[in-house]
Amino acid sequence: MHIFPIHDRLLQRSAKEGLLGQKGICLWLTGLSGSGKSTVAQHLEAELFALGHLTQVLDGDNIRAGLNNNLTFSESDRVENIRRVAEVAKLFVHCGAITIVTFISPTAESRAMAKRIVGADDFVEVFVNAPLETCEQRDVKGLYAKARRGEIPEFTGVSAPYESPADPDVEVRTDLLEVGECVSRIVDHLRRTGVLTDHTV
Ligand code: ADX
Repeated sequence: MHIFPIHDRLLQRSAKEGLLGQKGICLWLTGLSGSGKSTVAQHLEAELFALGHLTQVLDGDNIRAGLNNNLTFSESDRVENIRRVAEVAKLFVHCGAITIVTFISPTAESRAMAKRIVGADDFVEVFVNAPLETCEQRDVKGLYAKARRGEIPEFTGVSAPYESPADPDVEVRTDLLEVGECVSRIVDHLRRTGVLTDHTV
């Protein structure tokens, strides 16, 4: 069977961006489980919304409960997880949305793949960084304790690797900064790089 994808049309994208009065972008939040990705995303979305911007959050836990509910945490399924969400993120970006993606995305290679799929110009890598000990102390979902007891195989940071980004566009230390400060740093980066202009409602 031949499948002919309908390629994105630049004009269509810019028309949508014009309608929204913003530029589509993917903010890719990577970090350990419990590092604060979802919390930062939630506050970032609220801040951007207050500034008059349309956003969409794609969250690991939610996407794994739906779209990706057939995937495990094996190395290859994690890559497939990231591949699919990067494709979805690209659709939102081309629709003009500020797309906030929160997945552990543990390997440099999988994040590079995501960047390739989304497009380098539309991709901002945000390292949501807290030391493993802090994430483990927080243990919001009780998963680290389970992983230490050997009840969850291949748990990131315990029995599966997490490769810290070597050169993230933005890094926020959630163990050192309040969530509001983390959000400000990300918004500042978007302003500095011209993604956000002073458009307010
Ligand atoms: S990723 O590695 O494929 O990017 P993803 O962000 O989708 O991970 O999912 C991570 C979430 O799944 C964690 O926050 C945690 O709630 C849950 N989880 C369940 N099993 C594991 C595991 N083995 N490793 C990491 N996270 C897990």
